[in-house]
Amino acid sequence: MANETLSKAKEAKNDEFYTQFHDIEREVEVYLEYDPNVFRGKTVLLPCDDPEWSNFTRYFAQNFERLGLKKLISTSYAVESKKIKEWQPTLFETESPYFDADKSRTNGKIFVLDEDINGDGRFNINDLQWSYLEGDGDFRSAEVKALRDEADIIVTNPPFSLFREFLAWIVEAEKKFLVIGSMNAITYKEIFPLIMDNKLWLGNGFQSGNAYFRIIGEANYANGVYDESTGLVKFRNCCWMTNLDHGRRHQPLQLMTMADNLKFSKHKEIKGRASYDHYDNYDAIDVPYTDAIPSDYEGVMGVPVSFLDKYCPEQFEIIGITKTWFGFADKTYPEQIQVGKDGRRSKVTKLNDGATIKHSEVPEGETYYIVNGQIFSQVYARVLIRKKQ
Ligand SMILES: C[S@@+](CC[C@H](N)C(=O)[O-])C[C@H]1O[C@@H](n2cnc3c(N)ncnc32)[C@H](O)[C@@H]1O
Repeated sequence: MANETLSKAKEAKNDEFYTQFHDIEREVEVYLEYDPNVFRGKTVLLPCDDPEWSNFTRYFAQNFERLGLKKLISTSYAVESKKIKEWQPTLFETESPYFDADKSRTNGKIFVLDEDINGDGRFNINDLQWSYLEGDGDFRSAEVKALRDEADIIVTNPPFSLFREFLAWIVEAEKKFLVIGSMNAITYKEIFPLIMDNKLWLGNGFQSGNAYFRIIGEANYANGVYDESTGLVKFRNCCWMTNLDHGRRHQPLQLMTMADNLKFSKHKEIKGRASYDHYDNYDAIDVPYTDAIPSDYEGVMGVPVSFLDKYCPEQFEIIGITKTWFGFADKTYPEQIQVGKDGRRSKVTKLNDGATIKHSEVPEGETYYIVNGQIFSQVYARVLIRKKQ
């Protein structure tokens, strides 16, 4: 349900989800634990922020000294460009000598912290200086691009609807980054190759996989997503994506051998079987659960996309992904008859879109495909991995 809401939000171009302070704090601590100097002497840019101080700005300004930052820059997107109807500037803005009623709606803002403005001997949130940007703060503008080029590390929760473009914007400038995105984005053909090349990986993540965001405007969500008492929405499939290193990424998964899995697995699809399924159109076995990866299998294995949350590059290498770009299958099937769970039959060619399993009898409760009298099913998107030698 929550995933559905996220994609609805995407369609509606509703990008106004605001990140909570403790989620930022919890995530950043993981990188500091691994390397206490990760931010030392660095310029951090927080683009795509709120018209007012965001929690990203608050966190990095409050921790400026502890992190050893050289400079903090945050930029926001103009209220008018966001298409927010009911927006009132805060006293912070209206009482400032820089306030301009027109620019307040049409221009983005920039906040900078790099000197001890009030001379109290500390660098903190009280030393943030702000002004209007020349334009609306679009991350694609020349103005914000120049800030990107100046920065060492880019941190934000970018607009979901522009996620591909935003990531490409970071990658083309070869910057370090820590951003929030949807797990669905992992399978995009622009993003998965970065994962394969160890240029992007998952961060620590939200507590128990639940990401809560503050919203503004109408709370038009399915049951269980919006909580009126907190004013927060909950999404299940959000993650942090980064190229900053953290410790969990180097902890190998504790796994059983294939023989032990087949004997003792807690999953009924594995326990008691003679072997793992082998794909019909690619030389790999299907492993439907990350904790069922056999520790002693030397060949290629298709594992769920959620494996990436546990991926340790010293333990496994990633070879590809099925479904979205299974361009390297060993076989192409002619037109198939798809038989749905309700028994409905239709002619399709989609068996070629992913990894397939050949069955000796009709699989129970599953959609299946008939090709030249033979029966096949298709598995969900799988990441293809192999044990590191
Ligand atoms: C998911 S929200 C996150 C806001 C803030 N970073 C946070 O996490 O609290 C994304 C923000 O990006 C803004 N935005 C949308 N399109 C943008 C663009 N082209 N350039 C810059 N910001 C944009 C949205 O208005 C929204 O405020």
